[in-house]
Amino acid sequence: MNLDVIFSWSEVTPERVKGRIAVVIDVLRATSVMVTALNNGALKVIPVLTPDEAFEYKKNNGKDILLVGERHADIIEGFDFSNSPLDMSPISVTNQTVVMTTTNGTKAIRAAEEAKELYIASFLNARSTAQILAQQDDVVLIASGSNGSFTMEDTLCMGYITNLLKSELGNALGLTDAALAARQLFINAQQNLLALASQGKHYRLLKSKGLDDDIRYCFSLDSINLVCYRKNGEIVALK
Ligand code: MLT
Repeated sequence: MNLDVIFSWSEVTPERVKGRIAVVIDVLRATSVMVTALNNGALKVIPVLTPDEAFEYKKNNGKDILLVGERHADIIEGFDFSNSPLDMSPISVTNQTVVMTTTNGTKAIRAAEEAKELYIASFLNARSTAQILAQQDDVVLIASGSNGSFTMEDTLCMGYITNLLKSELGNALGLTDAALAARQLFINAQQNLLALASQGKHYRLLKSKGLDDDIRYCFSLDSINLVCYRKNGEIVALK
């Protein structure tokens, strides 16, 4: 397998994803929210770019729709929930369609539209996702990043998935320099991921808003055994 990584949605071009298996990651917090919602019974997640697109979707598609998202890590006016995985409880999301817009995560998903297949990963479902990826031959991991730039937590998660694939595939896994760097960052930090991640900008923003429980939850490695992927433009759980 050839494995590449991209450090932010702003670096995604159609050529870098076209015909490849893409995996979008936004540890804090968009893809952690999606994985949690689908694990707790949501039917599907619809990523959209703007609040207006979300309101329009709800207007055109009737009931059992939850609007979820953030701007500057706060809830959007008129939405049902902010972008917190802890809000995605079974009682709230079962049999619901979750329409989401976030600052970076949903942009990364849209940016990767040309990919042959698209998966959604986080630390929560990293191992389950890696198991599926191990059967592929051309994969690109995409960090959502923060405002178009590198973020520590997404890169650590890409490094973790790369490391899992390396253990599984050995010399059959070819890494680009970017993938080598992400893996090495993870290996160096793995004894205490939070010590490094907590120095990152978005981590500090969430912490300053008192979202410690969200952060702790998003760093629960392999707590969810679920693969999430794009089917007809919607994000669903692989059954
Ligand atoms: C994003 O897409 O930028 C994030 O998920 C922001 C957040 O809710 O922490």
